[in-house]
Amino acid sequence: MPLTLTRPDLQRQHNFIANAWHDATDGRLLPVSDPATDTVFAHVPDSAAADARAAVDAAHAAFPAWRALTGRERAQYLKRWHALILAYQDDLGRLISREQGKPLAEGRGEVLYAASYVEWFAEEAARSHGEVIPEPVRGRKMLMVKEPVGVVAAITPWNFPAAMIARKIAPALAAGCTVVAKPAEDTPLTSLALVRLAEEAGLPAGVLNMVTASRERAAEVVDVWLADSRVRKITFTGSTPVGKHLVRESAATLKRVSMELGGNAPFIVFEDADLDAAVAGLMAAKFRNGGQTCVCPNRVFVHDAVHYDFVARLSARVAALKVGPASAPDSQIGPMINARAVDKIAAHVADAVERGACVVTGGERLAALGANYFAPTILVGVDAGMRCTQEETFGPVVPVTRFEHEDEVVAAANDTPFGLAAYFYTRDMARAWRVADRLESGIVGINEGALAAEVAPFGGIKESGYGREGSRHGLDDYTQMKYLCQGGLG
Ligand code: SIN
Repeated sequence: MPLTLTRPDLQRQHNFIANAWHDATDGRLLPVSDPATDTVFAHVPDSAAADARAAVDAAHAAFPAWRALTGRERAQYLKRWHALILAYQDDLGRLISREQGKPLAEGRGEVLYAASYVEWFAEEAARSHGEVIPEPVRGRKMLMVKEPVGVVAAITPWNFPAAMIARKIAPALAAGCTVVAKPAEDTPLTSLALVRLAEEAGLPAGVLNMVTASRERAAEVVDVWLADSRVRKITFTGSTPVGKHLVRESAATLKRVSMELGGNAPFIVFEDADLDAAVAGLMAAKFRNGGQTCVCPNRVFVHDAVHYDFVARLSARVAALKVGPASAPDSQIGPMINARAVDKIAAHVADAVERGACVVTGGERLAALGANYFAPTILVGVDAGMRCTQEETFGPVVPVTRFEHEDEVVAAANDTPFGLAAYFYTRDMARAWRVADRLESGIVGINEGALAAEVAPFGGIKESGYGREGSRHGLDDYTQMKYLCQGGLG
């Protein structure tokens, strides 16, 4: 199934600044490759500081008029953008699959996921309510109103090239902010295609600007945004070390920050769990995007009493997964994003085996398919000292650890600096609320493996970051409160 576009002009290869498409000022280019074949199929600008500055100039100039619109007026732009995303969902899905590698059905699914955030925040744009505060002394009126924070810099990862940018840009625009954005160097094309559709939706010049850059030059672009006091907020999804750097550097101009950072999600199967449901939940949560999501279970804890049965049922499903390029209609797991990613997965498996874990299925690169493929893998006999339990593997590996007691497993689940997602399966309702209460995590799945939705607050605690995307709270990250007090009222 070829991944060619019915509308080839959606594959934009320029920066978008003040509603015009530009090369990088010094003309440098960043190659974009298909991870299935490692072949370059497009080039985008490898931008420099001057491009980043031009983007801020445009966003800053556009801010007063954009913030002056009513929420309902801004919503009209978002609704038109949403309709265009749906109209071109197949092309966008193909573009995601081509540059990111996820199977086509998942690529299309991601477009709908991205669109759901745009629709949600189009609806929320009119609902940025303030408060009337009961006055403590007579003769005053006191109110709180919410205002847009200003120019927002959005920096997004490669694993969901449509959804991550949509769930930052949509609330920012809905709140009345203008945006400068930099998509990940591995996957710039989907984001540029979304920007093209926003342009078609009639977004005024400068409201949304995007520049692309290589890994080597990303810091040059982002440093401009960090240093510029006109940028009032940084929103970032990516690794915890980079997030910490952005927070530190934002301090100089006291920018607002939202950080959706790394995870190390536990997935617990208690002895009273419905094992088929737990296997289905783990398959959905673990193998989405080939295991390359921040909320993928990274440590699987299975009670002693059901360990054998659970692993047997799971391995039948995992061994049957079809690995192949996104373009093959039956692929369920695509290539990993690049060779570095595969090297890390292979190193985690090798480390676990060296320290005593056993491979139940998989455990190796699938070199016959290409350099970026790794077999869906189950490891048993995993312990807390292994790299695969301490770091995010970000690949199709299920490391299984046995446990005996609830207290022991909750302590093990929480024994990580991260706190993004956690999952557990039990049929005991008292245990369900007890464990949900004790898990240190921003998101908890109780007998459920598919958690993300535009209606719910997505985000972490501890070193997984702060801020929430989606839900009725999602606009708050892009607004600031202003208190108004009128006196002299008699
Ligand atoms: C992520 O991996 O950062 C996001 C995953 C999701 O939206 O479910």
